[in-house]
Amino acid sequence: MTTPSDGRAAPVAAVEELKALLGPRGWLEGDDAAPFVADVFGHRRGPAALVVRPASTREVASVVTICRRHGVAIVPQGGNTGLCGGAVPVAGGAPCIVLSLARMNRIVSIDPLRFTVTAEAGCIVQTIQEAAAEVDRSFALDWGARGSAMLGGAISTNAGGINVLRFGNTREQVLGLEVVLPDGRIWNGLRALRKDSSGYDLKQLFIGAEGTLGIVTRAVMRLHPRAPREQTMFASVGDFGRLMELFALARSVGDAHLSAFELIPGRLIELALARHRRLVRPIETRAEWNVLVRFSGGDDIADLLERLFAEAFERGLLTDAALAGSLAQERNLWELRDEITPMRLMTGKMLKWDASLPIDCIVAFLTEAEARARAIHADLEVIAFGHVGDGNLHLSIWPDGTPGDPVFDRRCEHIVRAVDELVWAYGGSVSAEHGVGADQCARVRQQKPPIEFEMMAKIKALLDPDALLNPGKIFGPASAPARPAD
Ligand code: LAC
Ligand code: ZN
Repeated sequence: MTTPSDGRAAPVAAVEELKALLGPRGWLEGDDAAPFVADVFGHRRGPAALVVRPASTREVASVVTICRRHGVAIVPQGGNTGLCGGAVPVAGGAPCIVLSLARMNRIVSIDPLRFTVTAEAGCIVQTIQEAAAEVDRSFALDWGARGSAMLGGAISTNAGGINVLRFGNTREQVLGLEVVLPDGRIWNGLRALRKDSSGYDLKQLFIGAEGTLGIVTRAVMRLHPRAPREQTMFASVGDFGRLMELFALARSVGDAHLSAFELIPGRLIELALARHRRLVRPIETRAEWNVLVRFSGGDDIADLLERLFAEAFERGLLTDAALAGSLAQERNLWELRDEITPMRLMTGKMLKWDASLPIDCIVAFLTEAEARARAIHADLEVIAFGHVGDGNLHLSIWPDGTPGDPVFDRRCEHIVRAVDELVWAYGGSVSAEHGVGADQCARVRQQKPPIEFEMMAKIKALLDPDALLNPGKIFGPASAPARPAD
């Protein structure tokens, strides 16, 4: 194992300067640094000369200036909950440090009449949710890792989650940003404006850029009115082929009250119930496919959910359902949703897609993807779940075989290619909400028309000509801009 402190020989002088700048609380090395150089599943790990923990934007800017002078790359990191290896160093990469934003965890201001919150990049998503609730507002960002994911990481990956159906994804929540640029200057774009048509909307460049163009240090985020009530129906799907008919019905019955629509396969429910004894089985019917449908609004949402159930049952779109009748039942349903991640519940070789598709293509895509995969390797399991109301399917394929066996490995590669091509044939994207990181570079490059990739590379070269920020991410190792020969 590579330890963080072997650091691929970043200049000793750089490390000493950083330590002196930040003081004893501002850096970690050796064993203390280990959690920062590996991703959440330990799939990705790379050396870093030092983990720095600046406490202010000014300190971030000084870190960037020192690193730039010494030619040391910087891997910005929030809660390190990402699923594509975007926030940890790349093995075999350039000498680098990890810059953790965890100490910059303050809510700067919360403004209920403006419907905004301004927070530092290291603020935990759940902390912002709770602060918003205290002033009777709702913060849109929400997904399973809410208790450790940080605002800066959410912005940098344009993260999605459960509330996208109602509020849009992270990009749509951002009103203003403060960013430390690769040249060490601070851009204060912390405006709280709904409208601003005064030229290029530069903040958009940094949203979803995974720290390759600058380091997001603070943000002004939208808040929303808080719905007085939320109620969820867990339903077993009657006819999977008509899943999106069920969604359309939920949409027309619920109208603006429909706030989540999640697909959950029975297989993952059984695994989650077996693993987490606190979870309660929602209904006795054990269907292959289930949905969680949440309505948010006033007192009428219970009636609306009843109406949805009756109409959907009549049309054969669902076979059984339970409406959460208490806060405890409501919580149970959403905790179940949080715990169905196959990566946590299953072992073995997993091929994964965070597919984004036109919403009416979900079922056809899944059927064809499974057929394509089985034609290559018959012995496999297909698991799909996710935010189907947004056209976002988390698909994983578990081929049975021995990794390392060349025939098996080749087949896995063929499956990935065949399913990727299917995603593209539907006009989809292989990354809906998890970003690119180090894992998806080659696939994303293939997905984009060359002119689009070229524009991205030109923007990268313009803002970060020395390839200082998060090398090996989004663009992949080969296409990272080379350091100028000076
Ligand atoms: C989820 C993660 C995998 O939806 O995006 O659970
Ligand atoms: Zn998801």
